[in-house]
Amino acid sequence: MPIVFLNAAEVVTCAGPARARRGAEMADMQSRRGIAVAVENGRIAGVAPQDELRRAYPDADEVDCRGCLLTPGLVDSHTHGIFGKPRHEEQELRASGVDYMEIARRGGGIHGSVRDLRSRSEDELFDLALARLRRIASYGTTTVEVKSGYGLTLEDELKSLRVIRRLSQALPLRIVPTFLGAHEIPLEYRAAPRSREEYIALVINEMIPRVAAEGLARFADVFCEPGVYTADESRRILTAARAAGLGLKIHADELEPGGGAELAAELRAASADHLAAISEGGIKALSEAGTVATLLPGTMAFLGRQRQAPARQLIAGGAAVALATDFNPGTSPTVNLPLILTLGVSQLHLSVAEALVAATVNGAAALGMAAETGQLAPGFAADVALFDIEDARELPYWYGDRRCLATWVRGIACHASGNDGTFPSSPGRPL
Ligand code: NIG
Ligand code: FE
Repeated sequence: MPIVFLNAAEVVTCAGPARARRGAEMADMQSRRGIAVAVENGRIAGVAPQDELRRAYPDADEVDCRGCLLTPGLVDSHTHGIFGKPRHEEQELRASGVDYMEIARRGGGIHGSVRDLRSRSEDELFDLALARLRRIASYGTTTVEVKSGYGLTLEDELKSLRVIRRLSQALPLRIVPTFLGAHEIPLEYRAAPRSREEYIALVINEMIPRVAAEGLARFADVFCEPGVYTADESRRILTAARAAGLGLKIHADELEPGGGAELAAELRAASADHLAAISEGGIKALSEAGTVATLLPGTMAFLGRQRQAPARQLIAGGAAVALATDFNPGTSPTVNLPLILTLGVSQLHLSVAEALVAATVNGAAALGMAAETGQLAPGFAADVALFDIEDARELPYWYGDRRCLATWVRGIACHASGNDGTFPSSPGRPL
C-alpha cells in the first residue's frame, strides 16, 4: 500500500546527487514548504505539491504530519553500540584532572569495557544493545553503524559481530556492522611472552579472514592514535581488511596528531573519524581524496576538551563533513544525534543546513550508502523522520530534547514516540 505524508510544515529533502556533499554544497539542504511525500514499495515515489500527490495516490495510507518537520531519516555513521556496563566512574576521574589516556594506561578505559564484555554472553549483550539501539532510533536515526571492538579476542570479536547481525534481524533500523578488532592492544599482549606484534598478526591473519568469510562486517576500523596503533600498523591492518573485501574507516587524530587523516586519504578510506587534532596536511589530503571527514563533537565535549575538529577549515578546503554520535561507554555515552547537530552548530560553527546534510547524505556516504538513503527524493529508500517542530532550525535549537515523533525505514514504521521505544509492526502505521 502506498503512503502519502501530508501536512508537513517543512520538508527537508537533501535532494541532489547520490554522493557526499563537499565544501559549499553542504550549505544546501533543499528545504521546501507546501509539499508532500509519496512512498511506494518502500521507496520515495514522489515529492510534490500535496494536491498533486493526493490525486496520484487516491488509495494511499495517509500520514498526517500535523504541521511538523519531515526529514530524511538521520544517519549515525559512528557508534560503538556493543558493550556491557557504563563507565561513569571515569567521568569523575577526568573531572578531577586524570586524562583519558592516563585512565587507559592504568588499565581502565577501553580495557575496562573489554574485561566486562568478555565476561558476558552473546544473549546478554544482545539484550543490552537492543534496548540501546531502540533509544538511538527514538531520536530520529534510521541508519546506524555499529562497531565491535571491546572483545579483542577472535571469539569475543565474533560474538560482538554476531550480536550486531542479530540486531539487524530483530529491528527495522538499518544497521551497518564494522569490525574494530584494532581498537586497542589488549593488556595480555603488552608483556613477554606475548607482544603487540603478535596481536596485530592475530587481527590480520585470523580475525579479518574469519570476519570476512562469515560476512559479519562491511567495514574495518582502527584506532590510529599515538599510544594506541601507529599509522604504519594501521596501514597494515587496513590493507589486509581491504584485500578481504571490507570497506575502510579510521579513528584518526582524535586526541593527538598521528597521521591518521593522511593515511585515510592514502587508502581512500570511506571515512576518517574524529579529527580534532588533524594537521594542515591532513585537511588537504582528505579534501583531495574524497574521504568523508566524520566529526564527533560530543566526544570532545564529554571529555571536557577545549579543542574541536576544524569543521570550517575542512569545508572551506572542499571536504565532505559528516556528524555522528560516537556512542560508546567511555567518551560519548549519548544516543541523541540531534544533540550532536546542536554541537555541530554551536561548537563546530556549522550552519543548520550543513549540520543536517552532515547527519543525512554525508553520513550515508560515510557508509557507502549515498545512493540508497539520506535524501527524500524519488528512487531513494523511504527512510523518513518526523519531528515535533515547525522549522528545521529548531532541530539543533531545542538541545537535548527528544522531538522525534516517528520514523520509517523502507516505508515500514520503525520508531513511534509515546510507546517507550517499542516498534509497531504494521507498515506505514499512520500517527
Ligand atoms: O571513539 N577512541 C576510540 N574509541 C572510542 C572510545 C572508546 C572508549 O573509551 O570506550 C572513541 O572515542
Ligand atoms: Fe569512536
